Amino acid sequence: MIEAENLTRTFGSLTAVNNLNLHIDKGEVFGFLGPNGAGKTTTIRMLACLIAPTRGTATVAGYNIQKDPLKVRQSVGILTENPSLYERLSAYENMDFFAQAYGVTDLVERRKRIQELLEFFHLWERRNDKVAGFSKGMKQKLAIVRATVHRPPVMFLDEPTAGLDPQSAKEIRDMMAELSVHEKCTILLSTHHLEDAEKLCNRVLIMNKGSVLLVGSPDELRQKTNEKPMVEIALKQVSSKILKTLDGVMAAEGVKQQENRLLISVKDTATATPEIVRSIVAADGDVLAVNALKPSLEEAYLKLIKGGEKQ
Ligand SMILES: Nc1ncnc2c1ncn2[C@@H]1O[C@H](COP(=O)(O)OP(=O)(O)OP(=O)(O)O)[C@@H](O)[C@H]1O
Ligand SMILES: [Mg+2]
Repeated sequence: MIEAENLTRTFGSLTAVNNLNLHIDKGEVFGFLGPNGAGKTTTIRMLACLIAPTRGTATVAGYNIQKDPLKVRQSVGILTENPSLYERLSAYENMDFFAQAYGVTDLVERRKRIQELLEFFHLWERRNDKVAGFSKGMKQKLAIVRATVHRPPVMFLDEPTAGLDPQSAKEIRDMMAELSVHEKCTILLSTHHLEDAEKLCNRVLIMNKGSVLLVGSPDELRQKTNEKPMVEIALKQVSSKILKTLDGVMAAEGVKQQENRLLISVKDTATATPEIVRSIVAADGDVLAVNALKPSLEEAYLKLIKGGEKQ
């Protein structure tokens, strides 16, 4: 659905995006991660035909960004870094205007779609209020409604949950999941919220200084950094008998004791946990709680970015 080949953009002597190659399938939710200035927005702007690449090319929804920019613009919904809505028009008037501009000519269909989306974001009651009086988060939601009002096959969302309260951020995550599952919409989103990436994206791309550091699923990303998963076990008491038994358990690759807690590094929590718990019980241990811990995506991300800087 999105294909980029050596996509490059320079601003004077600065290379904002350097030889980016991408292949994103229909229905994927694909995350762009990277520190400030990495080139995320510049990439999105090129793919949405808002700026031209210096070199390279891309196709979006089957259309070439250089040969068919009009078709590309009609096939995408975009949320940019600022909502840019008509402040003096009401929420409904704004949405009605953009829906028409995007080619939703049927009045009944337009109204139905706008109502459905505004209701989803709890903005239907405020539909007749001027956008000028809306809060930042309300404007952000409205900008997302605008991006999807014409049911585009591809959406580019640049930091869709930035500056939103947890409840609103969740609504936006739910909406993205809904669009991807039910409308088979392909979504490319840039975010600084690793939690969003983790919950939503089947694949993420990490970039820094215009170059790609890694592409893969959030799980692959964790594995790349060699952090091991852990099983955390809380016991009534940790005895030397338990520690000795664990010495002989193959699945327990490393055991750390913190008072009455054991932190055991393993290859795979699903297979190791039952074996470890059985051995502890056999060594007369009273198990109070068991927790499978994945290495955090944040740690993996920070490690990768740091590694990328050293190269
Ligand atoms: N119009 C422009 N003119 C000059 N330089 C630009 C322009 N747009 C972007 N850049 C530069 O390109 C680089 C990448 O910027 P970009 O906005 O793509 O980063 P980003 O990954 O979106 O960062 P952020 O997380 O802060 O939004 C930066 O060094 C920026 O200064
Ligand atoms: Mg940006």
